[in-house]
Amino acid sequence: MTRQYKAPRGTQDILPADQPWWDYVRDTAARLAREFGYAQIETPVFEEAPLFTRGVGEVTDIVQKEMYVFQDRGGTDLALRPEGTAPVCRAYLEHGMHSLPQPVRLWYITPIFRYDRPQAGRYRQHHQFGVEAIGEAGAAVDAEVIELLWRLCGELGLTGQTLHLNSIGDQNCRPAYLEMLRGYYRDKLSGVCEDCRARFERNPLRLLDCKQEICRPVIAVAPPIADHLCDECARHFADLCSYLDAAGIPFALNPRLVRGLDYYTRTVFEVQPREEGGQSSLGGGGRYDGLIEQLGGKPTPGIGFGSGIERIVINLKRQEAPLPDARPLQVYVVVQTPAARVPAFRLASDLRRAGVSAVAGSSERSLKAQMRHADALGAVYAAILGERELAEGTVALKHLADGTQETVALAEVAERVGPA
Ligand code: HAM
Repeated sequence: MTRQYKAPRGTQDILPADQPWWDYVRDTAARLAREFGYAQIETPVFEEAPLFTRGVGEVTDIVQKEMYVFQDRGGTDLALRPEGTAPVCRAYLEHGMHSLPQPVRLWYITPIFRYDRPQAGRYRQHHQFGVEAIGEAGAAVDAEVIELLWRLCGELGLTGQTLHLNSIGDQNCRPAYLEMLRGYYRDKLSGVCEDCRARFERNPLRLLDCKQEICRPVIAVAPPIADHLCDECARHFADLCSYLDAAGIPFALNPRLVRGLDYYTRTVFEVQPREEGGQSSLGGGGRYDGLIEQLGGKPTPGIGFGSGIERIVINLKRQEAPLPDARPLQVYVVVQTPAARVPAFRLASDLRRAGVSAVAGSSERSLKAQMRHADALGAVYAAILGERELAEGTVALKHLADGTQETVALAEVAERVGPA
């Protein structure tokens, strides 16, 4: 027996029925990005693996456990893109974008690959809409990027989401904080989960966002990093909060928000949907002032976010958000007699040229079967070409929703049904 193939675990087909949701999210994201002055960028699906090992961080889950790595036939170590920021920074450097007016504002929609444990809202291939603003250190651009993500959720019709905000300091203040955090945890290690014992050694900041029940009481009274920022980081954070206030964007300070990628400095943020679960965040990001330098460039600040399109679609459906009208098929040309085959083909072709969506039925099928097909495709009109119509140079144009029918000259069909 031949084997039945399935989409690989953790991946999914985005079928035609779901495409209107995807179009809606992609179109809204692209329009907003343009309104905010961002330009689109596309980078390859795979990159040299060390870009991520160096850029995202060797001790992150994404690099250690989740990256799809392979050697190509030439022996180069490559990785399927596990996140969108490092590739954009690589492109910024490779194309000398530092010589453009700063910040350089970029956006992308792209597939992302992570060998994660698949569950609702968590996939091995997902898609992110992301933006990166590179080359500006002031907090106004942080607020701008956050505003873009916030507006996206609102314009799409999502309600009840919350914006979580934190600052995780920089190379000046974070080391001392991490020592303090270690000091706090040192005599509590027997009471925390195994992962946290490893985090204590390798990546202590991640202790703060452990989701295990057993670790919660320890996290609850851990010293918050926001209380231990250096003056510059504290000022930057205060500036950001006042910009967000000015833009009327409500936020919740969350001292446990640290995020899972190593490149973050100062600002980190996430937008959580109204309903928890579904693997949560609709989008998240932060500042990465050391990343470009890490990748071999001059010290250059940057900030951005990524937002999972699958999760947005899940939440739009869950909240029964109204989907703007999908564009239906306008005309189904019904071939009632074999002699109408070529004229029907021609009519469909002419309609499309006039900007009207149209398909022609098949003369192999009965009138009834073609009408059923037109219904199944959701066509607005059936344009029926029979003996009489052929002789007269007309069609019988039937409005399928209300059943009304009229005779229309072939040359006038496009005008009669209007543009797509
Ligand atoms: P991230 O938090 O790893 O950040 O991912 C961003 C968003 O992608 C998440 O908030 C979530 O909506 C979605 N997402 C992440 N993993 C999955 C998954 N396995 N399945 C479905 N959706 C997922 C980044 O990737 C950073 N590059 C964001 C960024 C841009 N920071 C600065 N600039």
